[in-house]
Amino acid sequence: MASAPRPLVAGNWKMNGLKASRAELGKIIEGAKANPVACDLMICPPATLLESFATVALGSPVAIGAQDCHAEPVGAFTGDISAEMLRDAGASAVIVGHSERRATHRESDADVKAKASAAARAGLMAILCIGETREEREAGATLARIERQLDGSLPDTLDAQKLVIAYEPVWAIGTGLTPTVKDVAEVHAFIRKRLLKGNERTGGAVRILYGGSVKPANARELMGVADVNGALVGGASLKAEDFLGIAAAYR
Ligand code: PGA
Repeated sequence: MASAPRPLVAGNWKMNGLKASRAELGKIIEGAKANPVACDLMICPPATLLESFATVALGSPVAIGAQDCHAEPVGAFTGDISAEMLRDAGASAVIVGHSERRATHRESDADVKAKASAAARAGLMAILCIGETREEREAGATLARIERQLDGSLPDTLDAQKLVIAYEPVWAIGTGLTPTVKDVAEVHAFIRKRLLKGNERTGGAVRILYGGSVKPANARELMGVADVNGALVGGASLKAEDFLGIAAAYR
């Protein structure tokens, strides 16, 4: 069996952060240098900070990613930012299909697929988010929802360098609630099986992150689950100490 892919711990800062937040990024970089971890690290700040964060992080153990992109490379799309522009600003990855965008910007699986393909076109790694709502979980419809999202939003060709899946139960995001280890294992195994279908060579190398209320206190347990190849962290990534505390699960 192929060895597990190198884990990734990525921080999604959402709509948080001003120029002064470069100091927090600096602490993350210093901490990562002082106490190396056996995983990749990434911070996804708001678009306004991409360029300055990328400059600060250049040559450090911390990569910089974006939070969303438009599917087209250029055009009359007021307020939108293309994957090529994100790359130009110094991003090496972009989150697509986060549940907050699926909910508030009505993004469909087809939209998310187009964005993931745009990321690959621009040379960015897409962190593609999927996850069930509380109602779906309670109705026993979790795996059906995950399957629909994967069928509708996975790019046609899988490239493990250009694609990461993040399983984020919507009800676990920002709530302090997390699924049981057994439930995480079930969904991650299901996703892995789907990735391997027709992609025996690359499906095993695509990283599957868990996201939703990951904290230093629960990181080790969640990251220890089979087929969990890292974390997508929201609130706890805003503080260097917490973010590094989570990454320490890989020490
Ligand atoms: P949270 O957010 O860690 O604050 O729950 C996770 C996410 O939305 O990616």
